[in-house]
Amino acid sequence: MADSTGKREHNVVIIPGDGIGPELTDAALAVLEAVEEASGGFHLNLDVHRGGAALYQETGANLSAESIAAVRAADATMKGPVGLPEVRFPDGTEAGVLGGVLRTGLDVYANVRPIRLLPGAEAPIKAEPGEVDYVIVRENTEGLYLSRGKGVQTNDAAADTLLITRKGTERVVRRAFEIALQRNGAPSDGVRRVTCVDKANVLPSMAFFRRVFDEVAEEFPDVQSEHLYADAAAQALVVRPQHFDVLVMENFLGDILSDLGGGTVGGIGLCPSGNIGDDHAYFEPIPGSPPSGTTGAAPASSEPIHGSAPDIAGQDKANPVSQVLTLAMMLDYLGEGAAAELTRRAVEESLKSGALAIGEYGQPVGGTRAAGETIAKTARTLHA
Ligand code: IPM
Ligand code: MN
Repeated sequence: MADSTGKREHNVVIIPGDGIGPELTDAALAVLEAVEEASGGFHLNLDVHRGGAALYQETGANLSAESIAAVRAADATMKGPVGLPEVRFPDGTEAGVLGGVLRTGLDVYANVRPIRLLPGAEAPIKAEPGEVDYVIVRENTEGLYLSRGKGVQTNDAAADTLLITRKGTERVVRRAFEIALQRNGAPSDGVRRVTCVDKANVLPSMAFFRRVFDEVAEEFPDVQSEHLYADAAAQALVVRPQHFDVLVMENFLGDILSDLGGGTVGGIGLCPSGNIGDDHAYFEPIPGSPPSGTTGAAPASSEPIHGSAPDIAGQDKANPVSQVLTLAMMLDYLGEGAAAELTRRAVEESLKSGALAIGEYGQPVGGTRAAGETIAKTARTLHA
């Protein structure tokens, strides 16, 4: 909708989250301000809501009913990292993470995770920026995560169910092909390609996933389709990442392989993601942080810190790049493609020029706030 000045308006919920979350979202919003000014054509109306582990500790709910309603009503939502390792549900699982309520609750069935090697990133593989540029599309509402918060257990055993449905598979596979149509193909050969990742050699549920994939692939004759077993995919993403364009897979496989992919480009602390359904979408840095992560946390902590890095919260040490790239994904979703592109170019240019330098453990030299300001300034300069 356009406001009285003719600008396109979008209503967006912001959930800053736990730990370093508020610092990251503040930095991203500084970039948003610059990009809005530069573009002049649109404005986001921001509605900030609490959510996560601290809220759960206080109220017994990690997101209030009112906030869930606001997320549902919004055009899109951007959240920062959530979760505090010690805040648990009675069954031992993490209480602060919002995936349970938002991913299935909003039926945002495609978890879209672009893996790109950025200039200046400390990548453990041999590759240049531009050579690693693929999208993992992780099914987000079923698979092994069906058992989330449920499962069956006695004192002696526990079992989780992996569910693959035709409808759930068709829609996520279709989304993967649609994403491929919007891209320029794989870095190695420019071929538009969707890779189905599964364990069809062992599990009947995965053979079914593959059959449905093949059926949907026929609707997209201009996109190459191929299959890869998940274990082989883990190896291939390390040794020949240039081959990949879009990959689609079951929920749990997508969880694991997206961290692997993130690791190859310097850590998931640099990677954005979108949870996108037909009616709703929310965007977040890929949750979870490796112990030597690029959120700026020293590798001392053995407990997974799920991206909220409470040990460095409030210290202006966290790297806001994943949050800024998350903002870019949301802008794309809102139909503000030029602003999204400007945001991404501002990140890349800041890194390339050295204006934004990444130090030990991935923390931005000069701090979180300064990193946001540098990217914002670069966006203004690029646009001028
Ligand atoms: C992710 C995260 C979550 C998941 C955790 C935080 C529950 O690892 O989004 O990849 O397992 O889905
Ligand atoms: Mn994960």
